[in-house]
Amino acid sequence: MQEQQLYPVSASSGQEALIDQRQYRAMYQLSIEQPVRFWAEQANCIDWIKPFSEVRDCSFDRQDLHIDWFRDGYLNVTANCLDRHLVAMGDKTALIWEADDPDESHRQISYRELYNDVCRCANGLLELGVSKGDIVTIYLPLLPETVVSMLACARIGAVHCVVFGGFSAEALADRIEDSQSRWVITADHSLRAGQQIGLKGNVDAALGRCAGNCVEKVVVVRRSGAAVAWHPQRDIWFSDLLAGQAEHCAPAVMAAEDPLFVLYTAGSANRPRGLVHSCGGYLVYAAITHRYVFDCQPDDIYWCTADIGWITGHSYVVYGPLANGASTLLHEGVPGYPDISRWSQLIDKYKVSIFYTVPTVIRSLMVHGNAAIRGTDRSSLRLLGSVGEPINPEAWQWFYRVFGRGRCPVIDTWWQAETGGIMIAPLPGATALKPGSATLPFFGVEPALFDGAGNRVEGEGEGYLVIRGSWPGQARSILGDPGGFYEAYFSQCPGYYFTGDGARRDADGYYWLSGRVDEVINVAGHRLSSSEIEKALVTHRSVLEAAVVAYPHAIKGQGLYVFVTLCADQAADEHCRQDLVEWLRLQIGGIATPDVIQWAPSLPKTLSGELVRRVLRKIAYDDCDHLGDISNLADPDVLQHLIANRVRPSPGV
Ligand code: PRX
Repeated sequence: MQEQQLYPVSASSGQEALIDQRQYRAMYQLSIEQPVRFWAEQANCIDWIKPFSEVRDCSFDRQDLHIDWFRDGYLNVTANCLDRHLVAMGDKTALIWEADDPDESHRQISYRELYNDVCRCANGLLELGVSKGDIVTIYLPLLPETVVSMLACARIGAVHCVVFGGFSAEALADRIEDSQSRWVITADHSLRAGQQIGLKGNVDAALGRCAGNCVEKVVVVRRSGAAVAWHPQRDIWFSDLLAGQAEHCAPAVMAAEDPLFVLYTAGSANRPRGLVHSCGGYLVYAAITHRYVFDCQPDDIYWCTADIGWITGHSYVVYGPLANGASTLLHEGVPGYPDISRWSQLIDKYKVSIFYTVPTVIRSLMVHGNAAIRGTDRSSLRLLGSVGEPINPEAWQWFYRVFGRGRCPVIDTWWQAETGGIMIAPLPGATALKPGSATLPFFGVEPALFDGAGNRVEGEGEGYLVIRGSWPGQARSILGDPGGFYEAYFSQCPGYYFTGDGARRDADGYYWLSGRVDEVINVAGHRLSSSEIEKALVTHRSVLEAAVVAYPHAIKGQGLYVFVTLCADQAADEHCRQDLVEWLRLQIGGIATPDVIQWAPSLPKTLSGELVRRVLRKIAYDDCDHLGDISNLADPDVLQHLIANRVRPSPGV
C-alpha cells in the first residue's frame, strides 16, 4: 500500500522550519474553531492603509451569495510587494531573469529597481488614460516587464487580465471581448526553445476579429527586436511609455474587496470563465501560504517554474514571493532547451533553494534519467514542490531521491485558479509525507467528501471534494456572470464550494486527489475545457460533431482523445486529420493539440439525444470491459463501431 510509505518529518526537512507538527495542529484547530480570530491575526502579514474591523462576511446561498473578507480595510497590493521592503532590503534581488538562450546575459533586479520600474509604468498607464477599475490585458511571456506590468496595474487600481502567451489569436480575442479591455500590453515576440512566436501579430489578428473591439492602445515590449506591423495611432513601445516617467507614483488606496485581477480559466461551458480575485483577501492568502508551505526564509532563492499566465504564476511567481520579500527566479524558456539538464544547471547557477514545478516536467526529466541532472549537484536545494496535476508515486520518488538527492521534502500542493492559493499540502516541518498524496489541509481550509448520492463521507472514503465555508483567497465571482458563479461552484452541495475534483481520504486523514469529475481536462498541468475544444472543432467546415475526452498519458498526465464525425462530403484521411490539429492550434493554442483523433460515424447518445461521454472515456482509457449500463443508448451499434476502431495512442514517452 502506498500509504505505508511514510516519510517522517525529521528525515525530510530542516530543523528550523517555521511551523512544526505541534504548531500545525494547534494553528489548524484555531483556524477552524475560531476563524475570525485566526484570520484577524494572519492578516497582519500585510500592511493596511486603514485596518479592517470586520474579518469576514460570507454566504454561499443562491439568494445571497457574497464573499467578503476584511471588507472595511484599505490597502495597496504593490505597497506590500515593494514599498515596505525598500528601507530594509531595497538592494535585495527581487527578480532574477534568465533568458531562453543561455548565452544571452541574465538580469537581476533589486526591489528598489522593481519599485522604480513599476512606478514609471504606472505613470505611463495613467498617461494612457487607464484608471482605477479599468481592465488591462497582459499578453506577455515570462519577462520582468510582465511582472512590472501587473504591478503597475495594481499600483493604480487597474485590474490586470493576464492571458497565457501560448494562447492563439482567437483565444486572446475571446478574452479581450469578454473583459471589454481597452488596453493590451504585449511583446513583439516571445522566445521559447530558440523559436520566435509572434505575440504582436496575434494581438493584431485578435483585434481584427474582436466584435465591438474597444482596444485603444497596445503597448509593446521589444524582446526579439525583429520587425512587427505597426499602427502608429494605437501602438506604443513599452520603453517609450516608461521614458521620462517619474520614479514615484502614489499607490491607489484600494478597498480589500476591490478586484486585483481577472484570470480566465476553463470550466464546463464552452467559454472560459473570467475569475475575479480581490486585493485584500487574495494577498493575505498568497502571502501566508507562500511563507508556510514553502517555509520561505530571507536567504532563500525561490523558483516557481509556472508561466505567469496561469494562477500559479500569479500567486507563487509574483504576489506571494514579492509580498514576503523573496528573491524569485523567472526563466523565459523551457526545461529541455538547449538540453535536458538546463533546469538543473539553473538551480546550480543561482543556488536555488526552493524549486516548485509540475509533475509533467518531473516526468519529462525522469525519462531522460541522468541526462537531466548531468554535471550538476543541486546541493542548494532544500525544498521541492509540485502542483497542477496528481503526481504519481514513481515521479515523486524520482524527484525526491534523484533530483533532490533524498535531502528535500516533496511538497505536493493541491489548489485551483478559483482558490487563489494552496489548499491542501504538507508543511515541511510539520507533515510526514506520502508519495502521491497532497496530505493535509492548510489553515482555515475544511475539506469534505460527498458520494454520488449526495451524502457526506466521514472518515476513510472517497467522493467529490468540496470545501466547507470560505477562505480569504477564494475567487469572488465570474466577470459579468454572477449567476454562473453560483451555478458552477455552489449549486451542487449547499453551503460548500464544489471543487470539481475527486479525492480519497485515508485513515490518517490524508487526501489523495484523483482528477476532475467534470468536463475539465488537465493536460500537462494546463486546464482545458472539453466543451471549448468541441466548440472549436464544430466551427471547422468539415466537422459535423465532436467529443473530447482525456486518456492517461505517461508524461502529460492526460492527453486529448478526440472523436470526430465528419460532414458527409469530407473524406476521413490524414490530410483532414492534420487540418483539424492545425485548426485547434489556431483556435485555442498549442496546448489544445489533440493526441488522438478517432473518426466516428456518429457519437453515442441517449434516446433524448444527450451525449454519453462516460462510454467515450472508457474507450479512451481502453477499459471497454467496464462500460457500465449502456441500456439507454439510442443506437448500440455506434458504440460497437467505436470500440472496434479504437485508436491506440502512442505511450507518450
Ligand atoms: O484537478 C486539479 C488539478 O488542477 C486543477 C486546477 O487547475 P488550475 O485551476 O489551472 O490550477 C492549477 C494550479 C493550482 C485542479 O482542479 N490539480 C492542481 N494541483 C493538483 C491537482 N491535482 C492533483 N494534485 C495536485 N497537487
